[in-house]
Amino acid sequence: MQKLKLTKAVFPVAGLGTRFLPATKAQPKEMLPVVDKPLIQYAVEEAYSAGIRHMIFVTGRNKRAIEDHFDTAYELENELEVAQKHDLLALVRSVQPDDMNFAFVRQPRSLGLGHAVLCAEHLVGNEPFAVLLADDLMVGPAGGQSVLAQMAAQFERLQQSVLAVQEVPLEQTRRYGIVAGEVVSPGLMKVQKIVEKPAPEVAPSRMGVAGRYILTPAIFEHIRRQASGVGGEIQLTDGISSLLTEETVYALQYQGKRYDCGSKEGFLEATVELALQHPEVGEHFRNYLSGLKLN
Ligand code: G1P
Repeated sequence: MQKLKLTKAVFPVAGLGTRFLPATKAQPKEMLPVVDKPLIQYAVEEAYSAGIRHMIFVTGRNKRAIEDHFDTAYELENELEVAQKHDLLALVRSVQPDDMNFAFVRQPRSLGLGHAVLCAEHLVGNEPFAVLLADDLMVGPAGGQSVLAQMAAQFERLQQSVLAVQEVPLEQTRRYGIVAGEVVSPGLMKVQKIVEKPAPEVAPSRMGVAGRYILTPAIFEHIRRQASGVGGEIQLTDGISSLLTEETVYALQYQGKRYDCGSKEGFLEATVELALQHPEVGEHFRNYLSGLKLN
């Protein structure tokens, strides 16, 4: 059988970002910068690092800035060229490398993550694809592979859907899709059960799904069959639960760190930690922080 190749990524970016109001009143939450890069760019770079070149955004109203960010900034580039600011010009151009391409599709109403993924079906076609939630900023281990690249390596070998999971505190199971299954090798599980946002008392485990998925195209049919689930939304988790009746799904306990940038706390943690590692401002910021009297 011919090997399935992962070439496409779907970025559901239609969400309203109410947790970040008023910052997100007129700008997409995915454009909030962590140090000097918008959240969505971290996710796109992660997909690129996993060998993906086709980036599909499921957008909504008020999300034009995302399209503009991945387009040529003609006037800016022209001015930088005239001013001979070559480093800045290269930086601006590096956002959309020549071999990366983009497609945008609208999700007309907020009907949930499963529905958002379904909106990309005609662009994905009958191929495996990745889903990246830009709210979850994922940082791979120092000198190692990005989280999606780790998952892509497993997908290449297993040729089945792979979900990113991490252990979460029991009192937080209500925030995640929770999986339970059989460990097949260190860090890798065959999923037997997946539930969206269960209460701690009924959670089948403490393994929470992070916002990274590699899915086979069979998922579309399974999402289509779902009635609305938790929060009245069409849940991707419910689609995956249904997919389990037909295909094997794996869960990978990835190496690296997840920052929940959909929350203010997670966003601030990411900002502090990435600023400390930043080649330009890291040293200054470290000195600044160590001089703060925190108590
Ligand atoms: C979504 C998914 C959930 C997953 C989470 C990861 O929830 O529905 O299964 O665990 O992303 O961040 P959301 O955070 O959009 O409520």
